[in-house]
Amino acid sequence: MLELKNIQKKYNPGKPNENMVLKDVSLTVCDGDLIAITGRSGSGKSTLLHIIALMDNPTKGEYRFEGKDAAKLSDSQSAKYRNENIGILLQDFRLLETENVIKNVSAPLYFSKTPFKQIKQKAYSALEKIGIENLAKRTVSTLSGGEKQRVALARAIVNSPSVLLADEPTGALDSKNRDMLMDLILELNRQKTTIVIVTHDNEVAGRCASTFSMVDGKIV
Ligand SMILES: Nc1ncnc2c1ncn2[C@@H]1O[C@H](COP(=O)(O)OP(=O)(O)OP(=O)(O)O)[C@@H](O)[C@H]1O
Ligand SMILES: [Mg+2]
Repeated sequence: MLELKNIQKKYNPGKPNENMVLKDVSLTVCDGDLIAITGRSGSGKSTLLHIIALMDNPTKGEYRFEGKDAAKLSDSQSAKYRNENIGILLQDFRLLETENVIKNVSAPLYFSKTPFKQIKQKAYSALEKIGIENLAKRTVSTLSGGEKQRVALARAIVNSPSVLLADEPTGALDSKNRDMLMDLILELNRQKTTIVIVTHDNEVAGRCASTFSMVDGKIV
């Protein structure tokens, strides 16, 4: 369960360019939820997702990730926690373009406790889950956008995270690839992964069990 209570986020606090992006966000995401967060550009969706992903800290408020108080985790503890529990998918894939698919999908495992011998095997099973094991040896730069995003999804789930966070995961895809990616994300949710998707796309939001909207630094 993810519990955000009265979260506030200010960029550049105390400076002339201070910017209060999140004013008072409270949100509870239960295990197995599938939620979409929408809102206009600049409304703070990515900022919120980064806080949920333990990549950034709120200025005020309380965030508990599966009962753990995020404020009490050191940077290295949150990095470890993120690696073990959270999968992240972004609009622009962030893959190593000159490396092959299996190497990309294996990457998070090198930062985990996975025994060296099991790394390839785990990466293959993530590819199988997404149905792209045929791409294993391909260099990423030779793939289509839809294929790249499926590789990024395989990488996001390689550690079997309990939570998948996605920021505009379909923003760079055409409607066919968008629907295919959403089919995969919905299947992960049926297998009990908790999912939070930030999206501008009404079709994507419409396939989620619930939708929240960011307005004026708050969730409505
Ligand atoms: N590191 C930063 N320093 C200062 N201001 C920032 C920083 N990151 C984001 N902002 C500002 O915070 C506001 C919210 O940004 P954020 O990226 O969360 O919006 P968003 O809802 O994800 O927008 P989009 O839909 O365009 O992706 C914007 O005004 C942005 O300029
Ligand atoms: Mg954003």
